[in-house]
Amino acid sequence: MYRTNTCGELRIANLNQEVTLSGWVQKARKFGGMIFVDLRDRYGITQLVFNQETNAALCEQAVKLGREWVIQVIGAVTERSSKNPNLPTGDIEITVSELNVLNASETPPFTIEDESDGGDDLRMKYRYLDLRRTPVRANLELRHRMAFATRSYLNDLRFMEVETPVLIGSTPEGARDFIVPSRMNPGEFYALPQSPQLLKQLLMVSGFDRYFQIVKCFRDEDLRADRQPEFTQIDCEMSFIEQEDILSIFEGLTKYLFETIKNIDIPNFPRITYADAMRLYGSDKPDTRFGMQFVEIKDLTEGKGFGVFDSAEYVGAICAKGCASYTRKQLDELTDFVKRPQIGAKGLVYVRYEADGSLKSSVDKFYSPEDLKKWAEKAGAKPGDLLLILCGETEKTQKQLSELRLEMGNRLNLRDKNKYNCLWVIDFPLLEYDEELNRYFAKHHPFTSPKPEDISLLDSNPGAVRANAYDLVINGVEIGGGSIRIYNSELQKKMFSVLGFGDEQAQAQFGFLLNAFKYGAPPHGGIAFGLDRFVSIFAGLDSIRDCIAFPKNNSGRDVMFDAPSTITQEQLDELHLKVDWPKK
Ligand code: AMO
Repeated sequence: MYRTNTCGELRIANLNQEVTLSGWVQKARKFGGMIFVDLRDRYGITQLVFNQETNAALCEQAVKLGREWVIQVIGAVTERSSKNPNLPTGDIEITVSELNVLNASETPPFTIEDESDGGDDLRMKYRYLDLRRTPVRANLELRHRMAFATRSYLNDLRFMEVETPVLIGSTPEGARDFIVPSRMNPGEFYALPQSPQLLKQLLMVSGFDRYFQIVKCFRDEDLRADRQPEFTQIDCEMSFIEQEDILSIFEGLTKYLFETIKNIDIPNFPRITYADAMRLYGSDKPDTRFGMQFVEIKDLTEGKGFGVFDSAEYVGAICAKGCASYTRKQLDELTDFVKRPQIGAKGLVYVRYEADGSLKSSVDKFYSPEDLKKWAEKAGAKPGDLLLILCGETEKTQKQLSELRLEMGNRLNLRDKNKYNCLWVIDFPLLEYDEELNRYFAKHHPFTSPKPEDISLLDSNPGAVRANAYDLVINGVEIGGGSIRIYNSELQKKMFSVLGFGDEQAQAQFGFLLNAFKYGAPPHGGIAFGLDRFVSIFAGLDSIRDCIAFPKNNSGRDVMFDAPSTITQEQLDELHLKVDWPKK
């Protein structure tokens, strides 16, 4: 028997028991005639002690132990003379009577402790060693518990998990596909699913009624902290339901996870329309842990000779509480922030509402204190507050002001990782206009249903059509999104024509779905949560990478496998692929 107990479970109540433990040597240190070893496994750390006086031969063996050796020990649970209150097993140690080395280890390239000395690249290259570290493993354990609880919640509601294929044709979620060449079908390719969207809709046609799947999705898009090329969705679809049913079941799932995993009661989620989210926060995923809503002041700024505001379509302000005392340097920093190319504002106007009630601004030449006071009042500012103002084309300026709002939220410590604000954003526009390509695109995907009351606008004003589409946002992160689907082939055809798909093209790409819809498609809709993002919010992580066992780096590489990599000429030939780039 390799072990009677794990390294995380022995306590003072186990005193004098003879136990066998197996694990990895985290640290060994000599102290006078004693050798102390921290033995680690997945469950914790237990201190081992070897005593020179009582067992010199054993000590000779123990002194040779190196970091990360795998050992087995037999010994008695004894009370520690100096206890470690930071360790659950910190009251006891094992006085070892037998030591077996199960496997030696080379010295690891970084220290495998809670705080490691390894840089990012090194830890990714040796990810299997990084995963031995408690904080990293804890993220994966959290992920497991969340996935497990999700399955249990959905199973109780009669959802059925169905696996859908990974080698399929292209699915339209707006990113590029990952492509797999087919050996048996020369010149033809599979695409990896960007999501199981079409398949889950087909399962509804099959009468499955309530489907879910915790499923890998693949999208070839530029990476960010909250994006990986392969990621996991909690994917769901339901029949004979309305938007309200989906919102209530998946609000329920979210609350259930918060309650069972984090012991936090979350109140009912507020709902905000997409239009209001843009108007008040300049974002379709607003961080509502703090207020600082936008106030439009264009009407109050007009006709005073300040051409920049006069010619702007939009003038918007945010009020930063208690920031009137910001120094010139701090204001310059904010100006530089909004002028960065990623944000692209031309400049920043500020109004200081001084503690004594006077008002000073960077546009004093044009506006009197009375004018400024009107702005301040509209923005709900009080003496001591600072107004920050951007202007320009409406949509662009709102996006810039959104970045500034988040930056101020950071500076004022208003984005507390231990506070959770959940929110539904509803009534998304059905379509999005692409200025460059001069055509409409589906904002969610082409199967999303327009709101029935807006269908008549599809011809006259497509941009104004709202969809039965919704997103779940937590702390400014889009956790999930979904929609009620079109289930009528005529409406689906109409949608394709608005999107500029000819009949032939629609048939070629989605023919199987259109055909399936001819055979009694029930009204249906669904949603998908990003599991990686969900876990990283629960764990308070800045990047979803840290809750994925073997993630890709920012260039989409797996540095451990060294993938992607070249393949042999033989493999290329088998796949009928001709490549003319230089071999590495
Ligand atoms: P959507 O494209 O909004 O909807 O994706 C759903 C959720 O998946 C997560 N997500 C990602 N997570 C990590 N890395 C990525 N590259 C990535 N891309 C998306 C997000 C997002 O909210 N089929 C529809 C759902 C539906 O309509 O039912 C879909 O995939 O958390």
